[in-house]
Amino acid sequence: MNNQEQLNQLIELRQKAQLGGGVGRIEAQHAKGKFTARERILMLLDEGSFEEYDMFVTHRCNNFGLEKQLFLGDGVVTGHGTIDGRIVYVFSQDFTVMGGSLSETFAQKICKIMDQALKVGAPLIGINDSGGARIQEGVTSLAGYAEIFERNIIASGVIPQISAIFGPCAGGAVYSPALTDFIIMSEQNAYMFVTGPKVTKTVTGEDITTEDLGGANVHASKSGVAHFKVADEQEGIMLIRKLLEYIPNNNMEDPIVTPCDDPIDRLEDSLNEIIPDNPNQPYDVLDIIHSVIDNHEFLEVHSNYAKNIIVGFAKFNGMPVGIVANQPKYYAGVLDIEASRKGARFVRFCDAFNIPIITFVDVPGFLPGSGQEYGGIIIHGAKLLFAFGEATVPKITITLRKSYGGAHDVMSCKQLRADANYAWPSAEIAVMGAKGAIEVLESKALKDITNKEEKDKFFKEKEKEYQDMFANPYQAAKFGFIDDIIEPRNTRFRIIRALCTLSTKKDSMPPKKHSNLPL
Ligand code: HXC
Repeated sequence: MNNQEQLNQLIELRQKAQLGGGVGRIEAQHAKGKFTARERILMLLDEGSFEEYDMFVTHRCNNFGLEKQLFLGDGVVTGHGTIDGRIVYVFSQDFTVMGGSLSETFAQKICKIMDQALKVGAPLIGINDSGGARIQEGVTSLAGYAEIFERNIIASGVIPQISAIFGPCAGGAVYSPALTDFIIMSEQNAYMFVTGPKVTKTVTGEDITTEDLGGANVHASKSGVAHFKVADEQEGIMLIRKLLEYIPNNNMEDPIVTPCDDPIDRLEDSLNEIIPDNPNQPYDVLDIIHSVIDNHEFLEVHSNYAKNIIVGFAKFNGMPVGIVANQPKYYAGVLDIEASRKGARFVRFCDAFNIPIITFVDVPGFLPGSGQEYGGIIIHGAKLLFAFGEATVPKITITLRKSYGGAHDVMSCKQLRADANYAWPSAEIAVMGAKGAIEVLESKALKDITNKEEKDKFFKEKEKEYQDMFANPYQAAKFGFIDDIIEPRNTRFRIIRALCTLSTKKDSMPPKKHSNLPL
């Protein structure tokens, strides 16, 4: 072959690889409302930045006539590119090639870029759309999955890992996304389950659709497996780009600070009035969050799961932070199993990637009852406690209203090494609410009073006495558990000043192999 012929061959092979499983399969993919693996990558990355690896790889399996089905690239597109100028590594499973099923070589391609992402210290993004293990390959496919899992585990807490699910993701294949930091599912076409509807029916007799068993709605609201549910693939891809704005490239770097046009000393007068006079009346903590962060831009994580706690990303004067807030609008902001798990996972992510944590507290306590106790609220609540306690990033806590009992300790209290603990004048920091406290403390006296009017009068007097003592932030401030009581409208400025002061904070845990987080 002369030079020109060699070049022509290269061009031809590249063009062939671009077509994955072929034109017919691409059309079928489009007909389902799905983009192809390459189209997804091109949407995700900055224009012209994608460099593909291993486009000439083919599988090596001769079982069941597979040697006659060779596709350049073998079912997954891999490589690197940039998002807003930052290097990221990406793999995108190609459903047009044997249903995106995972072969030995397919796994090797993914592992190669995972290893590279870890060495470079760049985020890894995986786009999943696959029928699972390539059945014809048998155990080499299983081994391939395990190679990927091990790398997900090694990379955990070192580089951010984000998974998008835009098609099937079933069986053991679910565990790679599950090991990553964030899972995004599209409402169209995406589903995840360990065992599908057919096996479920055979084993348990339960009749259930794919959507009801593992669709985006289910995982975003019931199981909490998905951190984000998006309407379609384009929204999912834009979300990955947005998410990366708050996250550094790796655990040795800080999140990127961006210019901010929102004044740091913007006073929000409405905050002085936002807490209802009646302590049992709910309000929306999102209103408070939106008022204090830069330009009201909040990227909520897990917005449909455990709504009694809010978690998400925002910026203060361009500095990315993670926000955790009890939500009085749902179940009075109580901590239960799901809220504890959701909060803990988020706090640990922020701590792993040097993202300061701002905590807004209005928590009446832990949810009582056998359902919670049998479900292990002790262990799950301990996860959130552990997460806050081990976090060494700057931690700023604002107590808005209630901060009762064990939940007070859990929610980033001073003794968990929080750096700045502020309270609004409406804060109530106590072992429990006044009513509950009087019922315990005065039970004998209350029993002895038979006249209802006298009983009510006595109760009210005692309640007032207790409220005067504890339904305020001053007792806690007296002991230095609260560093300052601040005017609500000035909260934004106080958070920004604390963040600036804490930007050089150094704190650590003693050397150990790893902690034994209550799982
Ligand atoms: C080989 C596969 C495949 C697989 C799909 N294909 N899955 N080939 N191994 N796992 C092929 C199909 O034979 C078909 O090829 C093409 O991909 C497109 O698939 P369709 O079935 O036509 O597509 P669709 O109707 O959209 O259905 C998609 C699907 C279905 C729901 C994913 O293909 C399916 O149920 N596949 C099997 C899923 C599965 O059981 N996987 C193993 C899970 S266990 P042709 O040439 O006929 O068009 C597992 C273990 C992992 O993954 C363990 C890790 C620890």
